[in-house]
Amino acid sequence: MRSLSIDTVEDQTSALFTVGPGSLHSTMTSLVGGLRMAQEFKHQPVLRDEVTELFTPVPTGVIVDATLGGAGHSEALLEARSDIGILGLDRDETALRAAGRRLGVFGSRVVMQHARFSAISGIVEQGRQGVTPWPHVSGTDEPLGVAGILADLGVSSPQIDSAERGFSFSQDGPFDMRMDESQGMTASAFLDQVTLDELTAILRENGEGRFARRIAKALLEARPVSTTQEVVDVVDRAVPKANRRRGHVASRVFQAFRISVNSEMSELSTLLEAAVGLLIPEGRLVVISYHSGEDAMVKHLFRSWQAGGCTCPSHLPCVCGAVSLGTVLTKRAVVASDDEIAANPRARSARLRCFEVAS
Ligand SMILES: C[S@@+](CC[C@H](N)C(=O)[O-])C[C@H]1O[C@@H](n2cnc3c(N)ncnc32)[C@H](O)[C@@H]1O
Repeated sequence: MRSLSIDTVEDQTSALFTVGPGSLHSTMTSLVGGLRMAQEFKHQPVLRDEVTELFTPVPTGVIVDATLGGAGHSEALLEARSDIGILGLDRDETALRAAGRRLGVFGSRVVMQHARFSAISGIVEQGRQGVTPWPHVSGTDEPLGVAGILADLGVSSPQIDSAERGFSFSQDGPFDMRMDESQGMTASAFLDQVTLDELTAILRENGEGRFARRIAKALLEARPVSTTQEVVDVVDRAVPKANRRRGHVASRVFQAFRISVNSEMSELSTLLEAAVGLLIPEGRLVVISYHSGEDAMVKHLFRSWQAGGCTCPSHLPCVCGAVSLGTVLTKRAVVASDDEIAANPRARSARLRCFEVAS
């Protein structure tokens, strides 16, 4: 991983830049090609007030926004607390450009890095050792500890809405689906090398029970497939007429490809395993999931951290010596209100969970 000067951008996962007013200018002038998209980047942060409230009691420190996106959550956090800094990560450079414009006003309190969040341990270590920039809050000399980690999973509205990114089954575009366009395998290339059994299993894991094998077989037979419209047509033909609810099956198939192409489940498990060890006492981890598989992983891990690996029967006091890592603050997942869902339908599937590290 390499640290870059603020007016340099490279197509690799580790491009890193600060967003002070001067540096923002430098950054943006070096990103003229992305300016149009940055200006149009519109994403409504889901459960923003709930997220802000959950981070209100954390100690002074840095909050790692592992999924910076358009920086709606980060902006709210920076406005709510003058004693916190933000380390914002995103694997999508278009999102970082938009976030840089929005957060420039907060100067050295914000550092952004083009990276996968599974790399969080190394990024935090290098930042705290002074190898790479680290957010700074006035009145503090020592490098700040990590007081919070936020992961608002999945894709942003601009990613879905841009046909050329290939995430949308309702607009024709290249069958790409990479969150990081600078590297990795496109969905089309993924389809070229996947086996029938593997694709069937992937579709089943995403709720496409009955017709998973038929759809997988049809997609493999249609290779090479290069556009999203071709995928929609193949899926449509593979499902018997009586069972076609246009859009419904395709949406699950597209989600299955997106999760695989971007290794979303392994990214999440690596982030979660690292997160609890990075947080300072009373630091908090907040995760918003949009998929039942992700939410189940978060729920079970949070419970096991709270139990500290305890093996005693739940109705008896613990005698096995397990040490709890902290407390699950959300006994049930927090969901969006009817008003929020009406204003932002993408909030419908959101499930928020929060864990606080022991003091
Ligand atoms: C739902 S959006 C976040 C929106 C953001 N909270 C806001 O307020 O605008 C999710 C973002 O996370 C990014 N992302 C998803 N998985 C990632 C990963 N493994 N590493 C880094 N960024 C990731 C996506 O590129 C996308 O920009």
